[in-house]
Amino acid sequence: MTVNLKPSTAKGQALYRRAKTLIPGGTQLLSKRPEMFLPEQWPSYYSKARGVEVTDVDGNTYVDMSMMAIGACVLGYADPDVDAAVKAAIDAGSATTLNAPEEVELAELLCELHPWAQMVRYARSGGEAMMLAVRVARAHTRRDKIAFSGYHGWGDWYLAANLADERALDGQLMPGLDPAGVPRGLKGTALPFHYNRLDQLKAIVDANRGEIGLVVMEPRRGDAPEPGFLEAVRDLATEIGAVLIFDEVTTGFRMTDGGIHKLLGVNPDIAVFAKAMANGYPMAAVIGTSTVMEAAQSTFISSTNWTERVGTVAALATIRKCRRACVADHLIRIGELTFAGWKKAAAKTGIALHTEGLPSLTHFVFEHSDEPTLTTLFTQDMLERGYLAYSQFKPSFAHQPSHVEAYMKAVESSFAAIADAIRAGDYASRLKGPSARRGFYRLTS
Ligand SMILES: Cc1ncc(COP(=O)(O)O)c(C=O)c1O
Repeated sequence: MTVNLKPSTAKGQALYRRAKTLIPGGTQLLSKRPEMFLPEQWPSYYSKARGVEVTDVDGNTYVDMSMMAIGACVLGYADPDVDAAVKAAIDAGSATTLNAPEEVELAELLCELHPWAQMVRYARSGGEAMMLAVRVARAHTRRDKIAFSGYHGWGDWYLAANLADERALDGQLMPGLDPAGVPRGLKGTALPFHYNRLDQLKAIVDANRGEIGLVVMEPRRGDAPEPGFLEAVRDLATEIGAVLIFDEVTTGFRMTDGGIHKLLGVNPDIAVFAKAMANGYPMAAVIGTSTVMEAAQSTFISSTNWTERVGTVAALATIRKCRRACVADHLIRIGELTFAGWKKAAAKTGIALHTEGLPSLTHFVFEHSDEPTLTTLFTQDMLERGYLAYSQFKPSFAHQPSHVEAYMKAVESSFAAIADAIRAGDYASRLKGPSARRGFYRLTS
C-alpha cells in the first residue's frame, strides 16, 4: 500500500466542481457528497478499489475505514468470487428477451433463509424496493395510511410525512428532507413514530381507526428493542389488519445470513433487502408471505432493468459466500475490535467519546458542543495518514484485525492532536477547509 501523507486531491475536487454544474446536488447519493466528509478536500472520485483499498483519481491510495460504499460492499471491494460470477454472467449475455434463470434460484435461496416468506420480487435499489413493497402492501390492504419509523429512501410515500409537518422526519435518521414535488394530496398518509415508542404507534392507530394499512420500520438500527416492543408491534399490526414491513436495506446480511429480524425472533409480512445483498452490484429484493405478495398481481409493477442478470448473479454469489464464510460473524468481530479500539484511544488521549450502533454498523460521536468540526478535523487528519475515515465505520469481510490495529494507531495520534487542539482552543482554525455539513440541503456552489 502506498500511503501518501498530505495527499493532493486537486483533480478530484476539480471534477466535483464540474459535477455540480452538470448534476444537481453533485452526486446521486446524499451520503457520497464530499461536503458530508471534508468539504473542498475529500478525494471525491475513485479510479479503482480492491479489498479495503481505494485509489482516488489523483493517484492516492487509502485504506477505507469509513463507509465501504455506504454499506454495500460487505465482502470488500472487487470481491474475487462475486466478480468472477458477474464476469461469467456478462460473458453469457447480461440481458436478453428471455428471463435470467437465476431469478428463480435467488428467490428459493431467500425463502430458504427466511422460512416465513414464500414469494419474492426484485428491484435494483433500496428506496425503489421500498416503494415496491409499499405499493404491494397498499394493494393488499386497500388502505392508504402508513405508520412508520426510521429512514426509508426518497419515495413520495415516505417524504409525504413532511407535508404534514416539515420536521416530521427529523429524528428519523436523516433530518431536513424537503418534500418539494411530492403531491400535496399525500398529506396525512405517512405518520411517523419513534423506535421503541409503542405508545406513539398506538396513538396513530387510535387516531386513524381502520385506516392504517401498513406499519413500516427497521427491526433494529441503533438502540436494541425494549423487551416486548417488536412483538407488540407485530401483534398490533395483525390486530388491525395492517401489513408489517421490515426494512432491512442496511441491516440485512450484516448480523446474520439474511435479515436481523431472524435474531430478534419477530417475523414481518414483507422484508426488503438491498445494499449488502449483492456486494455493490445493483440489486434489491422484496420478500413476503404469499398472501400479501400475491397482491403484486393486482397492481402494475414492472420494469425492464429489473430483469438484467448481473444483480441477480451478484446476489447469489454474495449470499452464498456470506453463508459459506460466516461473514456476519467476521463483521461483528471486526466491529467489536473497533468499538474497543475507539474507547481505548479516547481514554488514552482524554477525548470524550460516545460509541453506538450494531457491531457491524459502528459509529462514534465526539461529546463536544462543536462535534461536526471535530469530526471534520478527524477526517482531515486521517486522510493525511492514508485513511478514508469518518465517525462511522461499516466493517467488511476484507477487513482483518491487523487493519483495525494499524488504524487504531492512527486514530490514537489523531485523537491526541484533536485533544491538543481543544485544549489550545484553536481546533476550528486547524481545518484547511469548511466544516462538514450533514443532512439534506441545497448546494449553492
Ligand atoms: C433503512 C434504509 N432504507 C432505505 C434506504 C434507501 O436505500 P437506497 O439508498 O439503496 O435507495 C436506506 C439507505 O441508506 C436505508 O438505510
